[in-house]
Amino acid sequence: MTTFEGPGGPFRADVSLPGDKSLSHRALVLAGMAKGRSVVRGAGPGADVAATKRCLDHLGVAIGPEVVDSPGIDEWHVPAAPLDAGNSGTTMRLLTGALAARAFRSVIIGDESLKARPMRRLAGPLGVLGASVQVSDAGTAPVVIEGRPLRGAAVSISVPSAQVRTAVALAALQATGSSTIQSPPGFRDHTERWLTHLGLGSWTAGTVFRVDPGPIRPIHVVLPGDTSSASFLWAAAAITPGAQVTARRVSLNQGRTGFIDALSAMGAGVEVVETGHVLGDPVGDVTVRAGDLHSIRIAGTDAVRALDELPLLAIVAAFSDGTTLVEDASELRTKESDRVATTVGMVRALGGVAEPTADGFVVEGTGLTGGRVSSGGDHRIAMAAAVAASRAGTVTVEGFEAAAVSWPEFPRVLEETWSSR
Ligand code: S3P
Repeated sequence: MTTFEGPGGPFRADVSLPGDKSLSHRALVLAGMAKGRSVVRGAGPGADVAATKRCLDHLGVAIGPEVVDSPGIDEWHVPAAPLDAGNSGTTMRLLTGALAARAFRSVIIGDESLKARPMRRLAGPLGVLGASVQVSDAGTAPVVIEGRPLRGAAVSISVPSAQVRTAVALAALQATGSSTIQSPPGFRDHTERWLTHLGLGSWTAGTVFRVDPGPIRPIHVVLPGDTSSASFLWAAAAITPGAQVTARRVSLNQGRTGFIDALSAMGAGVEVVETGHVLGDPVGDVTVRAGDLHSIRIAGTDAVRALDELPLLAIVAAFSDGTTLVEDASELRTKESDRVATTVGMVRALGGVAEPTADGFVVEGTGLTGGRVSSGGDHRIAMAAAVAASRAGTVTVEGFEAAAVSWPEFPRVLEETWSSR
């Protein structure tokens, strides 16, 4: 149980963020697939990224603080025991794709939350390449991969999931012949941008990406800060009169900036400056200032682009004039918790007014008074509730330790942000 008391006045902070979680998984897996030494600086500090490191270690990849030494995927070791992805869906899905063409059997397990998440969406598309991926009758982990040779194919995915797209791409890199991967839009296209930069694929039309098999060469990356983590501090600034937060060198991938766009549409002051690229994927500095906030309707591709931040958007919405509608977001139910239920529960526990809908939720801009919230074992609920204390008085979060899967240092950084003047 952790209690947050709020800033007691406007704050002005320049913050540093942990390495981006999505990019950390991708960098470590690609470096693990490449033969030789890769340099991966600034990988995220959370338990999810640690799970990817641990699984790669069991496959024979040596990971130091900034370097990855791999025998190459052709020489990966047969895992002596099931690979444990912990709470990390990204670890489970990316490694399933990477392991699909190995000449051995792998089993990937996870914690109670991960064991409830949908994995059939992975087995179907990988099966089109000829992979054998089995899940439970309920469509969940453990995931059993009977590695075998794969052939290039046209793969269509029904959900805009970057994790599934990436899993298919990692398998397709090991197939004979090119593959195409298509899905609805809005997903974070980190993988596609990196593979394009590395000469292993290219966009053909719309969301169709072609993967050209080939050996992956060692990579050299300095990872940017995590946009999803920065969002908690931007939200704190947006709802605290007179406050301002700048986060430097965070990922500006178009699949990650939906929350920044939503804050701007709600009336916060938002300034985005692109400063460079990491393997073709944009990074930059973002400043958010408090403003007179009003409600929005977020739906379609915009909801996908803000999906991980929608629980946090509910907190901002509670301090925004009018009724905020979140639609086309049923994927929220497949995350670390059922985030429709846990988000609505969080807002109500803090004295606000929210209702679940078939594909999202509704929040009234009636303010929040503070209170006691359960994280539901979900890092994003734990941190969103803490942010509410910026304006809502005292907030106590039960199960706050869930935050460590993405950002163990969050309580310290939030307190430092609140006390910066
Ligand atoms: C992620 C993609 C998203 C996101 C998750 C990380 C990734 O999931 O919710 O936190 O790193 O590819 P889906 O692509 O499955 O929606």
